Formats: sequence, structure tokens, C-alpha cells
Amino acid sequence: MKITVVGAGNVGATCADVLAYREIANEIVLVDIKEGLAEGKSLDIWQKAPINMYDSRTIGSTNDYSKSANSDVVVITSGLPRKPGMTRDDLISTNAGIVKTVTENVVKHSPNAIIVVVSNPLDVMTYQAHLISKFPRTRVMGMAGILDTARYRAFLAEALNVSPKDIQAMILGGHGDTMVPLPRYTTVGGIPVTELIAKDKLDAIIERTKVGGGELVKLMGTSAWYAPGSAAAQMVESIVKDQRRVLPVCIRLDGEYGIKDCYLGVPVVLGKNGVEKIIELELNDAEKALLETSRKHVKEVMDVLDKLPK
Ligand code: NAI
Ligand code: 2OP
Repeated sequence: MKITVVGAGNVGATCADVLAYREIANEIVLVDIKEGLAEGKSLDIWQKAPINMYDSRTIGSTNDYSKSANSDVVVITSGLPRKPGMTRDDLISTNAGIVKTVTENVVKHSPNAIIVVVSNPLDVMTYQAHLISKFPRTRVMGMAGILDTARYRAFLAEALNVSPKDIQAMILGGHGDTMVPLPRYTTVGGIPVTELIAKDKLDAIIERTKVGGGELVKLMGTSAWYAPGSAAAQMVESIVKDQRRVLPVCIRLDGEYGIKDCYLGVPVVLGKNGVEKIIELELNDAEKALLETSRKHVKEVMDVLDKLPK
């Protein structure tokens, strides 16, 4: 299996490292526009192999996509990250251009690839990659829900003083403050979370999760990378090993959840063909209203993309 990660910055390099040390693929190509960066980081990851005992090969390339030819999966992390005071949506015009160029190269060199977008604003960059690639929607998806859900699970594990492994949860909607955490579908070792934590504490965790990305931007002056890089690698693993994991993934909705032509995070089955199935949950009225708010927000940013000079 051959995986390409475009963007050898914080998120891309972390993703490539996880793919390598967990031997998720035997060939991992890292591409960046910055001279020497991808080559350097790939070499560093390869030199870690004898220490961490893996044999996946990492290869770097400065914007030469021929090295990425015939990749099975391409992860797009290229683009500006947020700085303090910025929203993800502020990144749209620069990142739309970057995602366009990168996607054109992916289509040219890896026409059968499955694309996993990470660049922000996530839902709209997934739209951009889908528009440009013209691939079926099942092969163009965005990573955000796994990260948002992981933040929620980590906060809950801390509050309950239990292992994060035993927290199962699902977050729907766009990657932003309008994301839709679902306490009704959150369990701790199979026990509904609402039986283990007071409502005000759970509400506070939900609010912290919604601004979880911003909390890290404030602390570090740039956005997160360990959890985002690992989350993207988890999607790649489910695809290349045909694990059929049930994960929240951003995809264009074509009527599911009563929504059309909008890119939102929903639970899917992820396997060798990409999104094998979209799982439609029964939502109550309050959850439907939150998803509608999220849809409206993403649609507004999609409209901004549509109006950008082509
Ligand atoms: P970074 O600045 O560390 O890395 C970005 C890399 O992209 C740089 O090395 C840059 O040289 C490269 N790049 C720029 N234009 C390129 C092009 N045309 N071709 C190839 N490479 C190009 O940023 P970081 O922290 O890795 O974040 C990357 C993106 O991922 C940002 O847009 C960020 O907002 C987003 N992100 C999304 C998350 C999500 O949950 N979906 C979570 C974390 C970050
Ligand atoms: C995050 O949530 C900024 O989207 C990035 O960390």
C-alpha cells in the first residue's frame, strides 16, 4: 500500500510518522512545497525505524508528484494553520488555492486514490477537493470528527477519572463551534454517560469541546498536530486494512439526515472503497436543530468558496 501525505508541516509530518511506526503502509510519500522540508522529515522518520522497530519506508519530495504516483490514499494537510484571533474560516482564500493545486496533482498522478482532507476550513476544503477531483463522494472525505470526538472523550475521561479507551462517543456536523456532540450516544464502558456525570459538568465539557481547537491555538500560537495527525492516520488505517471502522467523517450529504449538497461530519463505515456506508442516526428535535445550525454555517462558507475568483 502506498500513502501520500501532502504538507510536511506539523500535522502532515505527525500523520506520516504514525503511518510509519504503526506500519499502516509500507510506502509513505511526504510532499511539501518548501524546498527540502519533506525530504528532511522523511529521512528523520526513516532513521527512527531501527529504534522504534518498523520497516515502512518514508520518501520525501519537494513538489514532485511523480514520486507519489499511484497512491492508494492521499492525505491533504497543506495550508495555513490558525493563528490566535483567527477562525478556521479566515483561512479560506489561501487554503482554497492550495487545496486546488494539490488536488489537481493528486488526480493527475493517483487517479484512483481516496482523498482525506485535513486543511481548514475543513468542511469547505473537502468540498473544494471534491469539486476539483470530480471523484465519487465516497472517495473524498474530511478528517475532523475523529479529532473533535477524541477531545470530548479525553475531557470526559479526565472528569470521570477513567480510561479514555472506554469512552465511546459521536459528534456530528461541521468542524467548528457549531459541531453537534451527542450525549445520548455517549457511553462509558457501555453505561450511558448521563448516568455517571451531572448535567452541568457534561454541558461544560461539551462547550470546552466546541472550542477545543481554539484552546490549543491560544496556548501554542498555532493549531494542534498530535491528535489531528493521529486522527488522519486512523482513517487511513481503516481504509487500507479494510477495517470498516465506524467513525465520524466529513462527506457530502445527498439527502441523508434530510440534508443535500452540504459537507458535514456524520458516522460512516470506512473501508477499502472509502466511505462504504453513511449511518443515519435517529435525532431528536433539539439535535436536529443543532445540526441545522451547523449546516447553515458550513453552507455560508461554501458560498464564500463559490464566489472566490477561479
Ligand atoms: P503547518 O504550517 O505546520 O504545515 C503546513 C504545510 O503545508 C507547510 O509545511 C507548507 O509548506 C505546506 N504547503 C503550503 N502550500 C503547499 C502546497 N501548495 N503544496 C504542498 N505543501 C504546501 O500547518 P499544520 O499545523 O500542519 O496545519 C495544516 C492544515 O491543517 C491547516 O490548514 C490547519 O488549519 C489544518 N488542521 C486541520 C485540523 C482538522 O481537524 N481538520 C486539525 C489541525 C490542523
Ligand atoms: C483544530 O481543531 C485548528 O482545526 C484545528 O485543532
